[in-house]
Amino acid sequence: MTVKKQIVFATNNAHKLEEIRKIMGPEWHIMSLSEIGCTADIPETADTLSGNAEIKARYVKEHFGYDCFADDTGLLVDALDGAPGVYSARYAGENHDSVANMKLLLENMKGVTDRKAHFSTVIALAEGDDLRFFEGSVHGVITYTPSGEGGFGYDPVFLPDGYDVTFSCMSADEKNAISHRGRATRKLIEYLANK
Ligand code: IMP
Repeated sequence: MTVKKQIVFATNNAHKLEEIRKIMGPEWHIMSLSEIGCTADIPETADTLSGNAEIKARYVKEHFGYDCFADDTGLLVDALDGAPGVYSARYAGENHDSVANMKLLLENMKGVTDRKAHFSTVIALAEGDDLRFFEGSVHGVITYTPSGEGGFGYDPVFLPDGYDVTFSCMSADEKNAISHRGRATRKLIEYLANK
């Protein structure tokens, strides 16, 4: 039996965990926060994606001792000067309601014809005394109405360039192959494999 390599992924988001486990593949045992007994709601107080990813990764390393990575993701809309960006989770308020966030986004884009947007993910890896960052992004447009049942967050209103369906309509493998998180995670995997 091959021994799996293990690392913590600092998230409470079950969708992200599922995506990361699929992308990292069977040779990795990806431990969740609950698996290591971390029940803290780690405050994301930075005003950059890398800053928030760093806070989460460092928190786990410092309090639990495990090597850890964390991601922070934002949806940046050109016509809204990059909003909601780092505030994507709290766009419609502090209760992180994805449906309300999407609704507000569509409202704020009423009458806007330039629908260009991109997702950006920054992964921070806290390993030993080292801290490293890996970035991934995907460009596309914001649709006029939500469509699809899959995925999470803003997936129902994001149409990636070159595709005619939203992330929500794609299989997990299709989304992971082109997504911000997929791209950032593959850079992380390459680093971990070659260090
Ligand atoms: P965070 O990285 O958990 O802070 O996510 C920021 C916001 O972006 C949250 O509202 C998430 O639901 C949303 N989000 C993060 N990743 C994705 C994704 O892959 N697709 C759609 N929305 C996402």
